[in-house]
Amino acid sequence: MTKHMITRIPDMLFGADYNPEQWDAETISQDIALMVEAGVNIVTLPVFSWSRIEPEFNSFDFQWLDDVIEKLWEANISIDLATATATPPAWLVREHPEMLPVNRDGIRLEFGSRQSYCPSSLIWREHCARMATKMVERYAEHPAIVMWHVSNEYGDHISRCYCEESSRDFRKWLQSRYQTVDALNRAWGTTSWGQIYSSFDQIKAPTIAPGPINPSQTLDFDRFSSDALLELFRVEVDVIRSHNSSTPITTNFMSFFKDLDYWTFADLEDVVSDDAYPDPSDPNAYLDAALNYSLMRSLKNQPWLLLEQAPSAVSWRELNAPKPPGTMRLFSMQAIAHGSDGVMYFQWRAGRFGTEKFHSAILGHRGTQSRTWRECSALGNELKNLSELVGTKVSTPIAMLADWNSRWALGTPEAMPSEAFNWMDLAKSWNSALASQGLQVDIVRPQTDMIAYKVLLVPNAYLIDSITSEFLKSFVSAGGIAVVGPFSGVVDENDHVHFGGAPGPISELLGISVDEWWPIVDGQHELVELDGLQFNVSRWSEWVELGTATNLGIYISGHLKGKPSVTTNKFGKGIAIYVSADVDANGLDAIFRHVVKAANIQSLCDRVPSGLDMTIRSDGKQDYLIAVNFSDVPSQLPTWVTGLELCTQQHLGENSHVGAQDVVIVKLENNHQWS
Ligand code: GAL
Ligand code: ZN
Repeated sequence: MTKHMITRIPDMLFGADYNPEQWDAETISQDIALMVEAGVNIVTLPVFSWSRIEPEFNSFDFQWLDDVIEKLWEANISIDLATATATPPAWLVREHPEMLPVNRDGIRLEFGSRQSYCPSSLIWREHCARMATKMVERYAEHPAIVMWHVSNEYGDHISRCYCEESSRDFRKWLQSRYQTVDALNRAWGTTSWGQIYSSFDQIKAPTIAPGPINPSQTLDFDRFSSDALLELFRVEVDVIRSHNSSTPITTNFMSFFKDLDYWTFADLEDVVSDDAYPDPSDPNAYLDAALNYSLMRSLKNQPWLLLEQAPSAVSWRELNAPKPPGTMRLFSMQAIAHGSDGVMYFQWRAGRFGTEKFHSAILGHRGTQSRTWRECSALGNELKNLSELVGTKVSTPIAMLADWNSRWALGTPEAMPSEAFNWMDLAKSWNSALASQGLQVDIVRPQTDMIAYKVLLVPNAYLIDSITSEFLKSFVSAGGIAVVGPFSGVVDENDHVHFGGAPGPISELLGISVDEWWPIVDGQHELVELDGLQFNVSRWSEWVELGTATNLGIYISGHLKGKPSVTTNKFGKGIAIYVSADVDANGLDAIFRHVVKAANIQSLCDRVPSGLDMTIRSDGKQDYLIAVNFSDVPSQLPTWVTGLELCTQQHLGENSHVGAQDVVIVKLENNHQWS
């Protein structure tokens, strides 16, 4: 079996964010006793405690933290130790008001919330390094510390800053990217709308202009802003690594957060962790959650960690619905099903004050009387049965491409054929259609080794540079099947339209060209025909002309009637399919059935009942099937599923089912063969 990312704990990790600075010593002692009762083996702290640790410059109070760490350790609870740099102390901000971030409207954002810093601020970076050094010097050798938790949710509140210092840093970033201002002018296409610069000094962070801002400039600002937070992360990572190299480092992600290129962040850390808050009032939330988890397990191709979830309601939506009884367990098991080696929450004990006083916690305001306590502590103890899953990985022969550069380039909606076109929506609908066939995706980037994959889904790749086009071509020519969605291959890395039009450098691969985009008015739809059946397309369609490709489907309504809608092209040893429209779920189902058959993939079952989430985790020798049933009715399992069910430790025979709102985890007697 693969090793746990956290070697000292043999079980699934189970725990929460803990904010002991909000509680007295007696409560802390009670907390720790209850943690043991609930099966907690790890807590995250002290995320927001800088002002408690260093109340004045260079005057430190570590005693309270030492005490908590000791007490936790005596109770055999390990620690995901935060560097306490999630938010600066007031004295630092007042001493250096220029480190406060400035929003797009040019307003400097006041102290009094959290994350009160400009990502580019050198003062802030210096102080983060200083704080991280203090933490590392004091605690790195402590046996309780099993992971470093750097900062917290980078970019959650501030991912783009428009202050003078950010502008300066942006210019520096541009200078190193382009060397000369002429090169920048070419890349930004500044001859359009008369924006030619004669010096880097004339460039500022793109706040608000009389009209839409140059999209090439915006794209670079997105890249720069992601890099600015990455640099801030690197400052602390370097400090930790230079003092102590063996304890793994993480920083918690926010699922498919658009503002940060998580590939680059994952490259810097040892463990990928995610904060996942599927909305319990959305019956399909589990489908999107699955896609988020695909990303998390793929970023480093290893198990990841659900570092935060809500025990019940959150406190930051317009309406904060609680998780109905049993739902928290299902969402937790789903994260495990998709490769998490644990379940952690925000937070252990509900605060009595502050912005998050109405956020649920394992211990709600009613303490052990609360429903969340009962459900969480039951889960903590149930997870002890799942230790053998630790270190196993989700296996799937299907990949999906996610490229932040392309998402960003697409993200200036003002000047696009349609403002409704959006990468994330397409990725979600493609993923859901595939999941309904008992198949999951891994997420890949152009650098990923594709040897394990037979199919590559590209719901959209608006920006395709030479690296991406080579990646797609070599995957297909080696025998893979690529399915490429609409509005792809439109621009290069500078957001310049490819000569000859879309799909640019992959025209030959797909064997088609696109003459014009035909966005569809909101609320209307057109029809396409595939395999003799009709499907709706909405939001997007295209006038496609065939080169070497042949039709899989055609438009049968509107101005595009009779023209190709879905095409297929042989390329090398493989096949490249183009889907030119935003096809509905049934249409995607039909396309993917075709693909899965051509790739000779055996899915887990022909049709997954609605509400059921099914995956396989495996150590390469032993497969485990995990079926999480979010629906109100029992679901049939695939007939071939037999083996030991880990939660109940009972043998599961052929033709079994998973109960309504229940989960089964089966150590399979016969491994699943994907082909
Ligand atoms: C996360 C954050 C936590 C807490 C939580 C509430 O975004 O990391 O500190 O605020 O949300 O849902
Ligand atoms: Zn700034």
